[in-house]
Amino acid sequence: MNTTQIIEKKFNNLFGNLPELVIKSPGRVNLIGEHTDYNEGWVLPASIDKCSTILLRKNELEYSRAYAYDLDEYFEFKLEQNQEHDGWKSYILGVTMEMLHEKNNIGNFDVLITGNVPFGAGMSSSASIECALAFGLNELFQNNFSRKELAHLTQMAEHHFVGVKCGIMDQFTSLLGKNQKALFLDCKTLEHEYIPLELGDYILLLCNTNVSHSLASSEYNVRREQCEEGVKFLQKLYPNILSLRNVNEKMLEKYQELFEEIIYQRCLYVVQENERVKKAKSALQYGKIQILGKYMYKSHQGLSTLYDVSCEELDFLVEATKNNSQILGSRMMGGGFGGCTINIIHKNEVDPFIEQISPKYLEKFGKEMTPYIVQLGDGARIIENQIK
Ligand code: GLA
Repeated sequence: MNTTQIIEKKFNNLFGNLPELVIKSPGRVNLIGEHTDYNEGWVLPASIDKCSTILLRKNELEYSRAYAYDLDEYFEFKLEQNQEHDGWKSYILGVTMEMLHEKNNIGNFDVLITGNVPFGAGMSSSASIECALAFGLNELFQNNFSRKELAHLTQMAEHHFVGVKCGIMDQFTSLLGKNQKALFLDCKTLEHEYIPLELGDYILLLCNTNVSHSLASSEYNVRREQCEEGVKFLQKLYPNILSLRNVNEKMLEKYQELFEEIIYQRCLYVVQENERVKKAKSALQYGKIQILGKYMYKSHQGLSTLYDVSCEELDFLVEATKNNSQILGSRMMGGGFGGCTINIIHKNEVDPFIEQISPKYLEKFGKEMTPYIVQLGDGARIIENQIK
């Protein structure tokens, strides 16, 4: 039996029927453009081959049933009841409730979730579960949401049920990503362009610090508030601006002394990062991956010193690449306070680098560093459809 057959059998044993739909939706990497999405800025992520998979079927019961295969956890819920839950259950409830709220057109269902996007590594495992479910429910109940609408809906599920006021990058990439392409996304207009990710002899390597980002959701929301405070303050000086996308460094510098320092730093980082994303995108289009790498280092510098979302372990891993001519760029990836670094590294250097850095990391921090070689993959898709 292959893996799909094993989980289908489990579904059948649990729910007494085979699934009508099997859906996959991927995690993502982000080349550059961190903490810019909720500031109406630009990002350059890509969907990966690691996915959340869900098996789904309508049921005739008065309630819905959900099972997380990898955790061996089960729960039941009623559609009309707003229940409190955490972890994976809040993803399920969040998506279901948002969909009910948008179009009152879903009935009870059974769902099994599994997947191979590592948790807490900054590869968007939560978004991939939410997107897989939203994509599947959309199909199962014929709701006709577009992928963009689903991205927005799953982002709202995260806001309202998980409590993270995230931007739209992760959900958009999971739903609209394309294999072998980076996604240059304008997070205000949602206009996007697919840029071939051609790295020649270089590959993307993630180094997971295995630091679980406990501060992540609270500090994430604080960063967002600080940026909003910055915009409010700037609007007194420049009444026409709507967000940090309308601000440049000169506009900030001119009034630097009037700013609260921490707010100034947060705004400066975002304004600079937006510029870097646009330049990095051109560099990638012209095959200048050395330049892309340089922007990645600058991005990390800003995230660490101005935006203050890095940690000792991430800084150590980035620092360790700096004198290595076979590594073109390195930076922390995702929300921060743990998770992975993303590196552009020559394919022949992958093993030597891992061999060299792993024992040092273990010695310094008393935990393992986990490497992942990134393979890209497609956005959300139907694997099996038995809907009659
Ligand atoms: C998390 C959020 C995204 C984005 C990144 C930081 O992954 O879900 O919306 O803000 O952090 O770039």
